[in-house]
Amino acid sequence: MTDEKSSIPPWAGRLPFEPDKKKPHKFRVEDCLTRLYGKNNHKVLTGTYLSTDKLSCSSFRILPGCYFEPYDIHGGDEIYYLAAGSGTVLNPLTGRTYRFEAGEFMWIPQGVWHQFYNFGNEEACIVTAFAPKMWSDMGTHVTFDEDPVIYNSKNIDWRKIPKETGYKDDGKAKTLGCFPANGPAARKSQDIFVTKPSQALNLVHGKENRMLVSFFVSNDFVHAGTMTLPAGFESDDETHKGDELIYVAQGSVSVIIKTKDFDPASVSVERYEVHQGQRFFIPENTKHSYVSFNRKNSRLVFFIAPEL
Ligand SMILES: [Fe+2]
Repeated sequence: MTDEKSSIPPWAGRLPFEPDKKKPHKFRVEDCLTRLYGKNNHKVLTGTYLSTDKLSCSSFRILPGCYFEPYDIHGGDEIYYLAAGSGTVLNPLTGRTYRFEAGEFMWIPQGVWHQFYNFGNEEACIVTAFAPKMWSDMGTHVTFDEDPVIYNSKNIDWRKIPKETGYKDDGKAKTLGCFPANGPAARKSQDIFVTKPSQALNLVHGKENRMLVSFFVSNDFVHAGTMTLPAGFESDDETHKGDELIYVAQGSVSVIIKTKDFDPASVSVERYEVHQGQRFFIPENTKHSYVSFNRKNSRLVFFIAPEL
C-alpha cells in the first residue's frame, strides 16, 4: 500500500488515529503492522505500532549473524532501545561503528545513515521511536549511492579508522533538552550516540512517592528514557506537551487517564493494565498517572515528542 507519488504509506502520521482524533490506546504485542524489511537473506521482521503527527514507534528483531540491508535513513531522529541481545551499527558514509548492549539506548540523528548488525549469539530485539517522522518528504525509496566505508575493501586504508567522532560540542551543557548532545549539531555531524544506564541523566522524581527517571536522550525532537516504578507505587499526575508512548520492559503498570470529570472515589476511572512487552499511547495534553501493583519494581521505557 504505497502512495504512487511519494511512496510514503497512507498510514504514516495516522496509525491508528487521525491527527485530530488521538486518544489513549493500549497496544498488545500483536497489534502492529508487520513487514519484512531488507533484501535476500538479510530481511528483518519489523512491526509498526504507532504513527502520529509527532511520534512513530516500531520494533524489529535480528537473528545472530544477520544484518539489515539496504542502508537506512529517516526524516526524524530515531531512538533504539535494545530490549535483548547486543547490536553493532555502521554508518556507511563515515565508517564509524557503534556497539551497544541490552538496556542501552542509541540515538541516530535525522539524516544519519545506518545499518544494524547482530554479531552476538542472541536474537537482538529493538524497540524504536522516530520523531517527528519516519520518512522525509522524499519518500521511502531514498538509497545510499556511494561506496560504503568498509575496511579492507579497495581504497579504504584500515589505518585511518576514525577515532574522533564528527560531533563538535558547541559548549552547551549536557542538560535536559541537550543530552547527550545538542540536537541540531548532532544532526550535522553524521554521528551516532550510545547512552548506558550509568551515563543517563538520572533523577529521583515525585513528591510523596518517588520513582527513578533516567533520560538517555533529550533534545528538541524527542525525549527518551526509563521510569523505574517501585513496588506498590502511585505516581503524581503528569501532563506532557508532546505525544508519549511507553513500552513495559519489566513488570507491569496501570495507567490512569484523568479526564476532566475524574473522580478518585469512582470505580469507573479510565484505567489500563499494561503488561511486559506491551505499549501504551498517551496523547499530548492528557493528564495521567502510573500505578504499580507489582511486588517487584517495574521498568517502563518512554518516548515523548517533541516537548515534555
Ligand atoms: Fe532505521
